Amino acid sequence: MKKILVTGAIGQIGSELVTALRQRYGADKVVATDIRMPNDKELRDGGPFEFLDVTDSNHITRVMSMYEIGTIYHLAAVLSAIGESRPNIAWQINMNGLYHVLEAARQYKCQIFFPSSIGAFGPSTPQDSTPQDTIQRPETIYGVTKVAGELLCDYYYRRFNLDTRGVRFPGLISYVAEPGGGTTDYSVSIFYEAIRHQKFTCYLRPNTFLDMMYMPDALRAMIELMEADGARLVHRNAFNVTAMSFNPEQLAAEIRKHLPGFTMEYEIDPVRQAIADSWPNSMDDSAARMEWGWKPQFDLSAMTADMLKEISRKLQGEIKITH
Ligand code: SER
Repeated sequence: MKKILVTGAIGQIGSELVTALRQRYGADKVVATDIRMPNDKELRDGGPFEFLDVTDSNHITRVMSMYEIGTIYHLAAVLSAIGESRPNIAWQINMNGLYHVLEAARQYKCQIFFPSSIGAFGPSTPQDSTPQDTIQRPETIYGVTKVAGELLCDYYYRRFNLDTRGVRFPGLISYVAEPGGGTTDYSVSIFYEAIRHQKFTCYLRPNTFLDMMYMPDALRAMIELMEADGARLVHRNAFNVTAMSFNPEQLAAEIRKHLPGFTMEYEIDPVRQAIADSWPNSMDDSAARMEWGWKPQFDLSAMTADMLKEISRKLQGEIKITH
């Protein structure tokens, strides 16, 4: 088996995907790369790690030539809120980075995974049961790079027969690495604040519905799509996938079932609120279910119980959870 290269390996998805891939295919088969050096021992010493800047095409081909790479999970990207404060950087990393990685994949004939997002939709998109194929006019630079990325991946498949695959992820919730600079991040930080201080100040309005997914489901989605029979895939890229849709008020109520004293206040961030308002309330992921058997395992209550348990453990049981 050829090796798997992961870009953005220290990020929220990468830091768990690398471990999952190493467990599944063998530690020496997974080359983790990032623009930073990892503090995490498993990432640093658990298998090959290379420093890699995806905005530098020579750098990518140099790393590719060192290993026999057959698959790339291209996760290096900046998220929506950071993108709005630094659009130029977002374009360079998200767009030029993807282009360089696709070119390297073409040269070395690799299969490639590209994560798109709910951010690829905009205010003119139908917000409820958002269809797989629909209007995509995002208003953030993040969304612009995601739509362009979806199209570019489709293009490389059609034009060069490159095995590109991908999903549109909703907000991802995890307890290992925190997301940074996204619009959906409240759904992770709320758990840390709930356990540490029993209260949280939310930057989105209480009734802001967004699609979300727990990280174990997200890891499974990526691996299952990459292992799926390509002949069954009609869409290949940008599959809508979701596991739950909730608003901040509902998440707080779910946390309160475990921590009855938990309280939430609101201090709205107009930038992130406007972004969230332009994204779907809930996506229709039936194409993914039909074409490669996608099925989430964690709903709001299972995810909340697991997050509270794992983060309490991580914070050395500062607070006792009641069940
Ligand atoms: N979680 C991402 C963000 O909030 C969306 O894909 O930017």
